[in-house]
Formats: sequence, structure tokens, C-alpha cells
Amino acid sequence: MTAERRARELIAKAARIVVFTGAGVSAESGIPTFRDALTGLWANYDPEQLATEQGFRANPSLVWDWYAERRRRIADVQPNAAHHAIARLERAKPGLLVVTQNVDGLHQRAGSTDVIELHGNILRVKCLEGCGVVQQGWQDDERSPPRCPRCGAPLRPDVVWFGEYLPESALLRAQQAAADCDLMLVVGTSALVYPAAELPFAAARAGAAVITVNPEPTPVDEIAAARVPGKAAEVLPRLTAL
Ligand code: OAD
Repeated sequence: MTAERRARELIAKAARIVVFTGAGVSAESGIPTFRDALTGLWANYDPEQLATEQGFRANPSLVWDWYAERRRRIADVQPNAAHHAIARLERAKPGLLVVTQNVDGLHQRAGSTDVIELHGNILRVKCLEGCGVVQQGWQDDERSPPRCPRCGAPLRPDVVWFGEYLPESALLRAQQAAADCDLMLVVGTSALVYPAAELPFAAARAGAAVITVNPEPTPVDEIAAARVPGKAAEVLPRLTAL
């Protein structure tokens, strides 16, 4: 049996599905992945400078402007066939949960209703000093970055930077879902960044079948019941046509 046929069968019979996604699911929308050697987001930048609190404090306007540029880019792109296939699958399999490492909001724009964002969302900002302000749809003023309306500290993107903890309730719910699902579909992630990358292994340990969809091999393949090579936007519509 081909891997694709096996994957289709596993999806058809699964009752509790978790779809775990990474940057690859948005690649065909035109958003570069992190680790792609030639076009990856970090290829032209120093991650220490752009994705750490220290870097932000050292040069807030550089980091703010870089995120503003990414935000504009995300606003200009559309969810692709992979995001849409996942949203359709939710309608066929009620209770399906999307756990994403992406900060682009494209799953929600495609119609997925239950999405855990492990690494935050670039369309939200929060107070750098942690006074509790979190905002979506803030007023940009002449300052870069704009200021927290409550305490006057700079606002920063509400994404997880290097060295930071993942949002606790999001991680706990994702871990619980991994332990409880009967199928985890792992799409477009290099599965190198922990603790997110632990989720497929936790699901497999708890008895779930794991399917990977990725043009390249990943460490998850070792425990996968089916590894379907290929681009998410091509493979997922076929896998989920139940
Ligand atoms: P990566 O850039 O590490 O990996 C992208 C994966 O997508 C690779 O395995 C590619 O082979 C695969 N890929 C590329 N094009 C694809 C396509 N069209 N269809 C399917 N797969 C494709 O991105 P992530 O695994 O998401 O964390 O990275 C994880 C985390 O590392 C990110 O969330 C970010 C980064 O540090 C934070 O910002 C906290």
C-alpha cells in the first residue's frame, strides 16, 4: 500500500484528530520558512537581533519595523489549499484541533475554528514590561514602537522569542490533545524546535497514529505510520478528500 493510501485510510477512520503545523504549511502562500537555506526568513538577518527581548531592547525600532514589514506581507497573502483542506477536514471531523507554530493567522483565515498558537500571533502586540496589556488592532502612532496605553512602555509583538517560554495554557492544552488524539497529522515542520517538536512523539507514545507531510525528511518520520512526501498544498487536498 502506498503511504498516501495508508494516510487516507488513517484519516478516514480517525475520530480525534490533531493537525500540527509549521512554516511549511504557509510556504505556498508566499511566506518563507525559517530553515530554508536560501529563502528562509532568518537568512538575511541575525535572529539574536530580531527575535530576542535583548535585541528588541537594544534596537526597538529596528525590530518593530521588521515585524511591521512581516505583518504587511502576511496581510497581502492568502491561505493556500493546505489551510483550506485542514479547515474542510474540521467540518468532516468535528473536534479537530489545529496546533500551529506559525504566527501568521492563516489557519483562522481559512476557516479553522479551533487553533492553538504555540508561538503567538504577529497580529497581536503586548506590553514589553508585562503590565498585562495585549492588543489586536492597536493604533500606530508616529513612534516606532508605539507605547502601551496603560503604562507607557514600548509595545512588542505577541510572539515567542528565543529564550522565552511558550504561553502556558496553550502548551498544556496542546500536550493534553496530543495525549488524547488518535491521529496526529504533522505538516510542514522541521520538528527541531522544542517543546513544540515533542508533541508528535507524545502522541505516538500515547498510541496515536502519526502522519507526516513534508517534501523533506524530518525526525518525526521515524515514528510515523505514514510519511507522505510533497508540498502541503498539493498533498493535503488529496489526503482529506474523504
Ligand atoms: P522550519 O523552517 O524549521 O521548517 C519548515 C519545514 O517545512 C521544513 O521541514 C520544510 O521541509 C518544510 N516545507 C517547506 N516547504 C513546504 C511545503 N510547501 N509543504 C510542506 N512542507 C514544507 O519551520 P518550523 O518547523 O515551523 O519558532 O519552525 C519551528 C519554529 O522555529 C518556528 O515556529 C519558529 C522557529 O524558530 C519561533 O519563532 C519561536
